[in-house]
Amino acid sequence: MHQEDIVIVTLKVNGVERPLAVEPRRLLCDALREDLGLTGTNLGCEQGVCGSCTVLVDGESVRSCLMFAVQAGGCEITTVEGLASGETLHPLQAAFWEKQALQCGFCTPGFLMAGVELLRRNPEPDEAGVRAALAGNTCRCTGYEHIVDAVLAAADGAARERTFAEEPEVDVAAEVVAREGR
Ligand code: FES
Ligand code: FES
Repeated sequence: MHQEDIVIVTLKVNGVERPLAVEPRRLLCDALREDLGLTGTNLGCEQGVCGSCTVLVDGESVRSCLMFAVQAGGCEITTVEGLASGETLHPLQAAFWEKQALQCGFCTPGFLMAGVELLRRNPEPDEAGVRAALAGNTCRCTGYEHIVDAVLAAADGAARERTFAEEPEVDVAAEVVAREGR
């Protein structure tokens, strides 16, 4: 490899800027996995078919086997490692856990990233919407039913949280005083 074949690109991955020296043809998936050690992003087909390598680039789901690392320079990249907050799982990860939406887990990071994008675009999808959004991801183990259930459960949980957050706080003491005239 000649020095002139190397370019410097800064990838902002899970909120952290990571400068890299790469060949222009370096794939984003390889930069993430091999250069940055973020092996949560899995590689299946390596030709854009299976969805296992899905990450978010500026909030959009992208097959990282079809994108050059240099194309992602300056973008916000989110990988599956960026979903949890410390020990706390992302709500969609928790829903996958509760609904047993994985078996071998190989496809799971890709499904999670596609699901996160869906719920950002449409926080209350119906089953058909979930199936359509996940249609580009392949799972060889689960039969998809539990994966769809998990995404719907995460959407349902988030909707309930929004409802509670919108309800005004009740001042119980004031209510008692008003009712009893004291
Ligand atoms: S590895 Fe990228 S779509 Fe299959
Ligand atoms: S859980 Fe094994 S491929 Fe999906």
